[in-house]
Amino acid sequence: MLVVVTGASTGFGYHISKILIEHGHQVIGIARRKEKLDEIQSEFKDQFYPLAIDMTNLDSIEPALKSLPAPFNIEKIDALVNNAGLALGLATADKADLKDWYQMIDTNIKGLVTITHTLLPYFVQNNKGTIINMGSVAGTYPYPGGNVYGGTKAFVEQFSLNLRADLAGHNIRVTNIEPGLVGGTEFSLVRFHGDQNKADNVYKDTKALTPEDIANTVDWILSLPEHVNINRIELMPVMQSFSPFNIVKR
Ligand SMILES: NC(=O)c1ccc[n+]([C@@H]2O[C@H](COP(=O)([O-])OP(=O)(O)OC[C@H]3O[C@@H](n4cnc5c(N)ncnc54)[C@H](OP(=O)(O)O)[C@@H]3O)[C@@H](O)[C@H]2O)c1
Repeated sequence: MLVVVTGASTGFGYHISKILIEHGHQVIGIARRKEKLDEIQSEFKDQFYPLAIDMTNLDSIEPALKSLPAPFNIEKIDALVNNAGLALGLATADKADLKDWYQMIDTNIKGLVTITHTLLPYFVQNNKGTIINMGSVAGTYPYPGGNVYGGTKAFVEQFSLNLRADLAGHNIRVTNIEPGLVGGTEFSLVRFHGDQNKADNVYKDTKALTPEDIANTVDWILSLPEHVNINRIELMPVMQSFSPFNIVKR
């Protein structure tokens, strides 16, 4: 298979690319940091094509995909893993930075729908394709400070289900993966704007999921027979669980 993985420079996206290539697939890896993608390209050689674009630069997405060189041509793409995304800040809504909110919306929603809109006509034309979106438990369960991040992941969940509705009759699969706490990525470092102590503290004394757990899930979904569609899959580490509703007493 030829698979596009967004957010391939690190974290889940790197590990998804790695396992797919180890299992004989080719990956077009998208991220902003060209130097990171180039390092990955030297690791995986011809199996990995580095495509350095900013997913918030919406006008650049379609031309970049349409000018991919052989054998990575757009009409040959079998699957899209919409993984690029970020959380910024953990302040309550009244104290959050509006710029952070817009950046999350631009990346997690607008970038994701733009690349999906670019590739879908080819999937329909080929009557074949798989779209795997990276949602989050934050799209289903609220938590203080989750505000717009959770909102973007709720969008991703519902967009995934609505794509399934629109694509009825086509041989195209859509899955939303909804992970809970996953360590070993830059997610919290990005969320806390580079504060390593705050980021480390999120995972201290926990046994979080790993990026390999998520990569294995993507690999499993892609390996299923073509008639099998996983609509949504929610996964958490065993040590993460639910809390009761917060009732503030007067
Ligand atoms: N880690 C968790 O606990 C967790 C849980 C649930 C869901 N998720 C979701 O899983 C996905 C991956 O998270 P992660 O933990 O692997 O985070 P990460 O280590 O921070 O990786 C995020 C990736 O997205 C790319 N990216 C960010 N903004 C981009 C942009 N504007 N254009 C192109 N690429 C961009 C980054 O590359 P560049 O910086 O090089 O552009 C990086 O490769 C995200 O959608 C996240 O919301 C994570």
